[in-house]
Amino acid sequence: MLVPNRICETTNTINSSQIPGEIDDNFIAHHAAKARGGTGWIGSETWLLNFPFPPETPDEVGLSVGFAAHQAAYQNPAFHVGMKKFTDEVHDAGSVAIVQLTHLSAVWSPSAIPVVGAQDYTPHTLGEEEIQAILQIYADAAAVAKDIGADGIEIHCAHETLGYSFLSPVTNKRTDKWGGGPQGRIRFVVEALERVRGAVGDGLALGIRMSGKEFRQGGFDNLESREMVYYIGESGLLDFVSVDVGHCWGAPSYVPSSYFGHGEFREFGKAARADLDPKTKVLFTGRVNDPVIAEEMLKEGYCDLIGMVRAGIADAEFANKAREGRLAEIRRCISCTRCIDEASEPMTFPYKPRCSINPVIGNEVRWANEYRPTDSPKKVVVVGGGIAGCEAARIAAERGHKVTVLEQGKRLGGQLILASKAPGRDDFEDQIYFEENELARLGVDVQLETGADLDTINALSADAVVIATGSLPRVPDDVKGLDLPHVVQGWDAIRGNVQIGERVAIVSQEDYYETPTIAEYLAQKGKQVEVFHKSTQLGFEIARYSVAMVLAHMENVGVQVTPNLVLTEIQADGLEFVSSFGGHTYRKEGFDSVVLVYGSVPQHDLYDQLKVEGKVAQLYVAGSAWVPRFMAEATQHGATIGLVI
Ligand SMILES: Cc1cc2nc3c(=O)[nH]c(=O)nc-3n(C[C@H](O)[C@H](O)[C@H](O)COP(=O)(O)O)c2cc1C
Repeated sequence: MLVPNRICETTNTINSSQIPGEIDDNFIAHHAAKARGGTGWIGSETWLLNFPFPPETPDEVGLSVGFAAHQAAYQNPAFHVGMKKFTDEVHDAGSVAIVQLTHLSAVWSPSAIPVVGAQDYTPHTLGEEEIQAILQIYADAAAVAKDIGADGIEIHCAHETLGYSFLSPVTNKRTDKWGGGPQGRIRFVVEALERVRGAVGDGLALGIRMSGKEFRQGGFDNLESREMVYYIGESGLLDFVSVDVGHCWGAPSYVPSSYFGHGEFREFGKAARADLDPKTKVLFTGRVNDPVIAEEMLKEGYCDLIGMVRAGIADAEFANKAREGRLAEIRRCISCTRCIDEASEPMTFPYKPRCSINPVIGNEVRWANEYRPTDSPKKVVVVGGGIAGCEAARIAAERGHKVTVLEQGKRLGGQLILASKAPGRDDFEDQIYFEENELARLGVDVQLETGADLDTINALSADAVVIATGSLPRVPDDVKGLDLPHVVQGWDAIRGNVQIGERVAIVSQEDYYETPTIAEYLAQKGKQVEVFHKSTQLGFEIARYSVAMVLAHMENVGVQVTPNLVLTEIQADGLEFVSSFGGHTYRKEGFDSVVLVYGSVPQHDLYDQLKVEGKVAQLYVAGSAWVPRFMAEATQHGATIGLVI
């Protein structure tokens, strides 16, 4: 297999097909865009394999246990047709297509020990006959992969897969030939490789995905991982090894958030490289979002190939832009983890991929059909330079409209400015730079420190007006004592424009990142922080892939969290709460400052006034000025307005 460059989309099951179990135009549009955008290796989405269940056992499908079925997609002829069309597109773009074969291991495993993330779900212990059947399934699926035109096959032995659970000393306690020390535990992987090689011959590249280290009590460390890679390599069956780290419930997760450094675990790539014959290529993946970092890692010998999954979700064209030296035009992934959170615990229906900063994701087919330069350039005024306003302006300007942005602050970015001040969130500022660069490049007239009212808008005689005036922190109307001097809003705390005492109570009715990031911001400034939270868990809406990284940070900086409490009264010397569920009341004392985090309230007065006046031909409200939601929704809302103006 000859890969045209070293940039790899390792497999990412982002659920881009709208037809479950089939490969539709949405899937092809999503992943082939990366190939056209210059990514050399396209891993697309995993092939979940079938399993020989005992008679009359139903399929097992559950968020906590993964997925196991009698019948797998690769056995469906319609899947072959779609997949063939897809690999053809990848080849047309000059890239290679890799198929990842995955047996998940929550319901069956080498030993009756719960895999990470499966909670108390104790798996069925595999018998010899079942192991043989499963090995054969890898071979059967590989033969299909070859038929549909794949260039390479990867057996998934990382994360929560069966391959992993054979390799791990935690989940493999077998005393037969499939267990024991590293040489025993790799046997399953080596036999799977042998079967697959037997089924596909020598024409395809063959490899595995494997963790450089288990971040798990009792799990293998990097030395043991290296030992196993070495022995697997000795089999002579490996063309490549794809190294990453993390669990789907872990800290780190294998989709690391912005709390981690760029390529933080790159040493594990270098280590595998040292242990393998140079003919076996090492691919390393993990929060590399920038071609410059990737180039540096290649030069310094950390790996032969670089996994850049979210880099391509954020900007499918990033590789072409890098090649052409258009670095400032790259929209870098900010590692907010919305893509994996949406894929694992969808917040949207019908389920679609989501990206906080790339509005095209999940809507590729619509954008391909509708996006085109305008044939009637209009004068467009956007009020508000947050993400929704910027995206409306950017897309409208790209299409040829003449756009003015009026922003009352000193800088574009809106709430992103606040978000990027939080610890581990500095990458969020990249998106502000991106908007600033793009609006300048596209000739948008950005007027900062410029407010807007009816008169301002009317004086501009715009054909289209987009009101993206954002939202403001919510002040609860059922709490007494809000006017006391030690009560402040979370946004002001993170802006740094209010006095905060040493002992801080954060009272939260916000279930995403705002509360934990404000808590961490203050704790890192040396404050003693306790959060009183309305829901059962801080970060209740952060999916399980990512919440562990947040909770680990809370623990590291010593933030105390008390869940299930609703504030009723603030007094100079204490706080009165009622339980969210039980109705009991509680009093908490000993705080110098009370910080409120209650979400935000839309600001759409100007839109309402313009609507009543009825003078603007095309009037839109965008982003949180309509409803405060997450970043991806604001991005999409603004960009979609830009698409239709
Ligand atoms: C939405 C999503 C789904 C993923 N699904 C898989 C998968 O099915 N198999 C796999 O091995 N890795 C999967 N990954 C992990 C990626 O291959 C990659 O290792 C991870 O995103 C970190 O790389 P990045 O920092 O370049 O994004 C997934 C990642 C994302 C974002």
